[in-house]
Amino acid sequence: MTSEMIIRPIAGPSEIESCARMMAASEPWVTLQRDYAALLRNLSSPEREIHVAVRGDEVLGFIGLNLHGGFVGYVQSICVAPQWRSRAVGRKLVAFAEERVFREHPNLFICVSSFNVDAQRFYRNLGYEVVGELKNFLVDGHSEILLRKTIGSLTEFRKKRTPV
Ligand SMILES: CC(C)(COP(=O)(O)OP(=O)(O)OC[C@H]1O[C@@H](n2cnc3c(N)ncnc32)[C@H](O)[C@@H]1OP(=O)(O)O)[C@@H](O)C(=O)NCCC(=O)NCCS
Repeated sequence: MTSEMIIRPIAGPSEIESCARMMAASEPWVTLQRDYAALLRNLSSPEREIHVAVRGDEVLGFIGLNLHGGFVGYVQSICVAPQWRSRAVGRKLVAFAEERVFREHPNLFICVSSFNVDAQRFYRNLGYEVVGELKNFLVDGHSEILLRKTIGSLTEFRKKRTPV
């Protein structure tokens, strides 16, 4: 396979199933007790906007965004296939999400589990700051740590988008 990796919108049910399988077999979702059926339901929600990193027919990883609700600009899930980790796929998915979200919203939020120290380092390196800790949020005994990267306050962002 000589083709380059590209990031594009998820194509349909079989890619959604392959992303749900990837998550169900991986931490942190194993510890968080999110099984395939729950993950598939979650990824199939019309509120999700999912982008996949692919090389040819192979899905290397994906990022799921939620651009609705109170804290707009939320990374709902990001997962890279185990054999593709530490090869900059995740970094490129986050950069893609930032480019996408920061056109319309000044914040990107992500929750990371307290036991997922590799992902915490990954986000810290990409400039994400800890906002707070949600104790016993998804499962007892573990926290979700809310992270944020911002390009400015909502007021200043709106002024720049709609100059008077
Ligand atoms: C967390 C995750 C999304 C990061 O994606 P990734 O593709 O592995 O990350 P990257 O390769 O972009 O960067 C990770 C590390 O690899 C290093 N790296 C980047 N390019 C590299 C390359 N070409 N060769 C080797 N290492 C490289 C980076 O410097 C980074 O170093 P760090 O460990 O000090 O942070 C991925 O590991 C994953 O899916 N983990 C399991 C699921 C998960 O935890 N998701 C997050 C839930 S909140």
